[in-house]
Amino acid sequence: SNRSSTEGRRSSVSSEGDDPSLDNTNVSETGSLSIIVLGASGDLAKKKTFPALFNLYQQECLTTLVLRITSLDEGAAPGISLQGTRCMQGFLQSNEVHIFGYARTKISDEELRDRIRGHLLQSKNSSSGSRESEDAAKFLQLVKYISGAYDGEEGFRLLDTAIYEHEVSKNTQDGSSRRLFYLALPPSVYPSVFRMIKLFCMNKCRRLGRIVVEKPFGKDLKSAEALSGQIGELFGEEQIYRIDHYLGKELVQNLLVLRFANRFFYPLWNRDNIDSIQIVFREDFGTEGRGGYFDEYGIIRDIIQNHLIQVLCLVAMEKPVSLTPEHIRDEKVKVLQSVVPIKDEEVVLGQYEGYKDDPTVPNDSNTPTFATVVLRIHNERWEGVPFVLKAGKALNSRKAEIRVQFKEVPGDIFKCKKQGRNEFVIRLQPSEAMYMKLTVKQPGLQMSTTQSELDLSYQQRYQGVQIPEAYERLILDTLVYYNSVYFECDCITCRKKCQTDKFDHVNHQEAWEIFTPMLHRIDDGKLKPILYKQGSRGPVEADELLGKAGYMQT
Ligand code: NDP
Ligand code: BG6
Repeated sequence: SNRSSTEGRRSSVSSEGDDPSLDNTNVSETGSLSIIVLGASGDLAKKKTFPALFNLYQQECLTTLVLRITSLDEGAAPGISLQGTRCMQGFLQSNEVHIFGYARTKISDEELRDRIRGHLLQSKNSSSGSRESEDAAKFLQLVKYISGAYDGEEGFRLLDTAIYEHEVSKNTQDGSSRRLFYLALPPSVYPSVFRMIKLFCMNKCRRLGRIVVEKPFGKDLKSAEALSGQIGELFGEEQIYRIDHYLGKELVQNLLVLRFANRFFYPLWNRDNIDSIQIVFREDFGTEGRGGYFDEYGIIRDIIQNHLIQVLCLVAMEKPVSLTPEHIRDEKVKVLQSVVPIKDEEVVLGQYEGYKDDPTVPNDSNTPTFATVVLRIHNERWEGVPFVLKAGKALNSRKAEIRVQFKEVPGDIFKCKKQGRNEFVIRLQPSEAMYMKLTVKQPGLQMSTTQSELDLSYQQRYQGVQIPEAYERLILDTLVYYNSVYFECDCITCRKKCQTDKFDHVNHQEAWEIFTPMLHRIDDGKLKPILYKQGSRGPVEADELLGKAGYMQT
């Protein structure tokens, strides 16, 4: 392999395209890559960001500078780009990549490594144990930790110095280093962190600095707009990536293909045939050490306004003109604009017993850890079909799924004992699957009916295929686009932001518009959560609401 080869690298890049960094014709051939995880002491960083970086490291994706997309046309759809990835050109040596963790907690490099080590190997195949551990040890040597405040000059200067020392040691010229800042932080600290990065950490990388921000982007419509304004004053749009990791999940990515590449669904996917659609997120653990972040946001801002609403858009939208991000976004926005105001009687909020035992949660917290909300889409396709969005923590299982329930067959001639409604279930996790519940003849002499399934379980059907973690896909997409500015590449896709990692402004704000009135009523204590037991299904009132929305247990 020629992993250390610089062959194929180009120092001059085309000045075409709308990314200003494409104009940078003095780009060094030796620019190193620094990935800076802010909030490195937190839950997201340890459970998802570092493991995703490790997986990318193992697949040598962090050191691959250009992934040319060959098999799909321009503007590939979310994540599909990766399946079309071929023809890798240009490499960094693995020690030219460095990862910096930053947070307030005072810990050493080694202590941070100890916190994340276990999570790196969690999803790994135990049979390749020793190789995995060796790789993890090598990866962890690339990780350095700096402690500092989110609003103080000192910490960010230290961070800048640490990154710079690394860059100098790799002969990176000023202005040519790539720094990717990943904000694994509560949005309340974004404004000061944006400012600090801009003031103290961007001078040496100029326009080759990138910022990745997590959901929720703001707390309501007004704060999201203010945040957009603040980030927009400091960074060019081409430098900002807003991510929603649900868009990187395999079966979420599959939604467009499923709906628009199969004849079956086309005539059925509407109000004439579908009775209700549920989009459900359940977790069997509570807020566990994240009370400080969670209590300020609650389940609607944490899960429903972003993850579930993105899924809803892909389920409900019309066929886009093409797979370009702009066309997909246009269709999503139309769905969101068609959602009618939520009625209080179509909301059930819950809070699990014991939530307030967390010392970081105030005793009088009104924050919901569970919510069921019925959304109604006022358009030709969906009028009258309830979209039930449900999310909860500390429930009886961990699962995320979409349940599309069809109407009954008119004029039943079989006198089914149990009315068999067809239901199409897309299980996003765990164990990705799609199955269709249907009525069949009970095998045997008599003519009676029973419910059965057409089942496409990914583990069985795609044995040996490693399904990438959502964050792997998103971070890789960020790097693919990012790195591509260093090279001439005849593929237009490389000059555009991949959509996977883009949580678009417009649909983001539309989503806030839907939830803001209800969120303010919760914040003001006018809507209150009902207590539910940990390990339960949530408040019984939520199941009653589901029943009123017409859902029948099949
Ligand atoms: P955490 O509560 O773990 O916070 C991350 C870090 O931020 C903490 O370690 C802490 O670091 C710092 N922090 C926490 N609360 C505050 C505060 N009030 N003010 C200043 N700093 C604070 O959150 P997560 O890591 O779970 O989430 C971070 C972001 O990532 C959120 O926007 C969340 O929505 C998003 N996210 C989380 C996912 C997850 O699975 N956890 C998945 C997808 C997105 P220190 O005190 O050391 O500075
Ligand atoms: C995050 C939320 O966005 O998603 C967390 O902040 C939640 O509260 C997490 O636990 C769930 O992600 P996943 O991929 O495990 O379903």
